[in-house]
Amino acid sequence: MGLKRANDQSTPPAANPAPDASRTQIRWLIRRDMEEVLLIERSSFEFPWTEEEFLCCLRQRNCIGTVAELDHKIVGFMIYELHKSMLRILNFAVASDIRRSGIGRQMVQRLIDKLSQQRRREIVLEVRETNVPAQLFFAESGFRAVTVLRKHYDDTCEDAYYMRYCLTDDSSVPFVPHNRISEYDAA
Ligand SMILES: CC(C)(COP(=O)(O)OP(=O)(O)OC[C@H]1O[C@@H](n2cnc3c(N)ncnc32)[C@H](O)[C@@H]1OP(=O)(O)O)[C@@H](O)C(=O)NCCC(=O)NCCS
Repeated sequence: MGLKRANDQSTPPAANPAPDASRTQIRWLIRRDMEEVLLIERSSFEFPWTEEEFLCCLRQRNCIGTVAELDHKIVGFMIYELHKSMLRILNFAVASDIRRSGIGRQMVQRLIDKLSQQRRREIVLEVRETNVPAQLFFAESGFRAVTVLRKHYDDTCEDAYYMRYCLTDDSSVPFVPHNRISEYDAA
């Protein structure tokens, strides 16, 4: 991610039952969410951002914070930057007890939906080489590792993968499977 931190080790391997999507609300992060956001941050990363780092980042004009709320409880957050032609995810986590239930996917999809509205074409981020759960998550969400950033972090000698999601011209067209077998039968 943007600030250099260690990866989380506590992601449960098995999927949780997906919460009803209509119960999950994604909205702007506001000042009074910080306490819950910091709890998720601290339980997700070995080198968590401090409150001051969050606030400093969010004071920038091009920096946006969002949270996912489930039954009035904050269950995830995302901090990202707006650039001319892309969005850059700086910090992102879902509460460990609700991972693998689709919250992260909903938050990333919300960001992807913004791309076409804002005429930005890409979302980029850095992920630690040891943070395999996050790499798998982003790969599943359509991101691809495009570069290795050697010894990217100050706290360890880890590399980072620079991952990118790129909106293609046909991204908005729903995928319709092409059934070649039925064509063969009809011939
Ligand atoms: C990465 C993270 C935000 C994903 O959030 P999440 O809500 O658990 O993700 P989702 O439930 O939406 O997962 C969507 C898909 O991604 C993949 N995925 C997510 N977590 C995975 C894991 N631990 N292992 C393998 N695949 C995973 C799966 O394909 C999953 O679909 P499935 O559950 O139907 O198999 C969450 O694991 C997290 O907060 N990690 C700690 C903080 C972190 O590493 N942040 C990113 C820093 S770069």
